[in-house]
Amino acid sequence: MNRAAEVLGFLRGRRDHVSGAFMASRLNITRTAVWKVLKQLEQMGYTFERLKGRGYRLTGSPDRLYPWEVGRHLDTKFVGRELIYRDSVDSTNGVAFELALAGCAEGTCVVAEAQSAGRGRLQRTWHSPYGKNLYLSCVLRPALHPSEVHPLTFISSLAVYDTLASEGLEPRLKWPNDVLIDGRKVSGTLIELSCEADRVRFVVIGIGLNVNMADMNAEIADKATSLLIVSRKPFERTRICGMLLGNLERYYEMVRSQGVGRVCRSWEERAGIRGAYMEITQMGRTYRGVSEGIDSDGAVLLREKGAVTRVIAGDVST
Ligand code: BTN
Repeated sequence: MNRAAEVLGFLRGRRDHVSGAFMASRLNITRTAVWKVLKQLEQMGYTFERLKGRGYRLTGSPDRLYPWEVGRHLDTKFVGRELIYRDSVDSTNGVAFELALAGCAEGTCVVAEAQSAGRGRLQRTWHSPYGKNLYLSCVLRPALHPSEVHPLTFISSLAVYDTLASEGLEPRLKWPNDVLIDGRKVSGTLIELSCEADRVRFVVIGIGLNVNMADMNAEIADKATSLLIVSRKPFERTRICGMLLGNLERYYEMVRSQGVGRVCRSWEERAGIRGAYMEITQMGRTYRGVSEGIDSDGAVLLREKGAVTRVIAGDVST
């Protein structure tokens, strides 16, 4: 598909038409080959104006997360440099996991327009309608002990947080990895990993971000929101995706250079969690208390009747 990206590169941002002969000579291919690429692009949703004797002009681009479109907004060293695009998958985490098992490079990402079996935390499903949101999974190979992996969940929620804040929105972090706006969930992360007894082989960080979804199904209507709903305008998903990947790489570099404890501190500060009263339900048991912050492995420290309990997983209700 590089050829298509090259042809688009010639046409994008030009008011004038570009001749097939010019593109063919620059790409060192025949005019028929250029024409075939243009046909392929039309099938993908791009539109062109063709004027006899003058050539082609790009008149429209589809709202699709094609790698070369996300790539226009990508300023990373390795995260998303290999970007696998799928129209529809069961789960981008599943695809990324298979790629990781097959030895793909660190930073390889999978994006899809829809998921038929999007996975959420605690065996929940992630509502994944076509062409509206971001469903993204990234393969990382951190040099961590399995017990240190949990805080990696914070790098994605921090990355989402910064992306939304730079769009002028006011996100809020909810432990362990939700991002909310106006009290409703806009993004979540599901981490899946493969490890040996004392070494992580790889981690798949799966991020769901509701971008342009206007209608929520009844099950999530009172709990979820999207960027479109809160700001009453659509967002360019390719740009949001590029920014998000940039922020993800930045926080991952923080883990690599300063350790997981550093990212826990950043998350704790952004979430403003210290001193907050919390109720966390974990496997049927509810812990209540005042938070003393986040431990270096990502657990919440809850002061309950004088004693401090570490809660490593669960759902926060308050
Ligand atoms: C949560 O329950 O909050 C986590 C939701 C994670 C959803 C994302 S969408 C992309 C990736 N693929 C999946 O199947 N799940 C994650």
